[in-house]
Amino acid sequence: MDPMKLLLRAARGEAVPHAPVWFMRQAGRSLPEYRELRAGIGMLESCRRPDLVCEITLQPVRRHHVDAAILYSDIVVPLQAAGIDLDIVAGTGPVVADPVRSLADVDAIAPLEPAAVDFVAAAIRLLLAELGQTALIGFAGAPFTLASYLVEGGPSRHHAKTKALMYGAPDVWHALCTRLADITRTFLQVQIDAGVEAIQLFDSWAGALSEADYRRYVLPHSRSVLTGLTGAVPRIHFGVGTSELLPAMAEAGADVVGVDWRTPLDVAAARVPGKALQGNLDPCVLLAPWEVVEQEARRILTEGQKAPGHIFNLGHGVLPETDPDALSRLVELIHSA
Ligand code: CP3
Repeated sequence: MDPMKLLLRAARGEAVPHAPVWFMRQAGRSLPEYRELRAGIGMLESCRRPDLVCEITLQPVRRHHVDAAILYSDIVVPLQAAGIDLDIVAGTGPVVADPVRSLADVDAIAPLEPAAVDFVAAAIRLLLAELGQTALIGFAGAPFTLASYLVEGGPSRHHAKTKALMYGAPDVWHALCTRLADITRTFLQVQIDAGVEAIQLFDSWAGALSEADYRRYVLPHSRSVLTGLTGAVPRIHFGVGTSELLPAMAEAGADVVGVDWRTPLDVAAARVPGKALQGNLDPCVLLAPWEVVEQEARRILTEGQKAPGHIFNLGHGVLPETDPDALSRLVELIHSA
């Protein structure tokens, strides 16, 4: 691990000249060069082509000079590689052909063979040759968020079928999450072995749960992912609407806790003492005039100083309608602050 990379230093709580900055969903639809490259190529197909993965991952680095690249992929890539019939539908998200509802459905989910995601390791090797001082972050979806797509069959507002299974058939729920944790751990380990320098576990929809339910139904599985990895890379653990879950998500084995815009970073720092934080500009602020962006970014930098380390980011992914120039200007601001 290169001790000079800012993201890694901030993740370990070491002194940095300025906060490192990157953006969730920085690779993708806010960039015209991405839309051009993807024309006529399916999302999941593009994820299986190391040349495209390398190029799309580098696009925001070249354009914005962010301190980290996030591997271009998707949380459902390892599920498809394990044989689950699904697709990503433009404008909708992941759609699963045969939703999981029973123990027999769970038993039909095969483990992920590392060779089935060879293309990810190949893309990482290409990227490491290009990235210089920019850190490379690998990622995966956490068991709860993956389970939600598999049980609902697609995106969902209330996660009602998911919760019905969780409360009504806890044996099926735990069997499903155990299997998903195995897939996620394997997927992250492939990325670590290929050379990613940090990983982020996305539990995007965990905020739908109370703390008690999170601890009972989800934490053991996310912990089995985060603590089961070998290799000394920082582990970032992120979800949306997780103000009440931050301590539990830290306990699951995070070095860095991702925070959405609802919780000020000084408040989050008090909730997870000793942990570095990542966040937390509301992505919608980037649609407002620059003066508002600057004011909010400076507030977040000040509040972030209460944590042992702060990685500047948004509170969730870049919205597709974001002006890429606003992101570039924000990076300049963070670097000069
Ligand atoms: O952050 C990055 O730049 C790296 C790439 C990345 C993608 N998906 C590419 C993508 C990452 C980190 C993800 C993670 C992901 N995927 C999450 C967790 C992050 C979060 O936003 O909470 C989730 C929940 C998914 C599932 C998923 N995949 C959704 C909800 C969507 C959007 C559907 C839509 O079109 O509105 C996708 C598709 C997707 N994943 C796109 C990209 C660039 C858009 C595909 C396209 O170009 O049409």
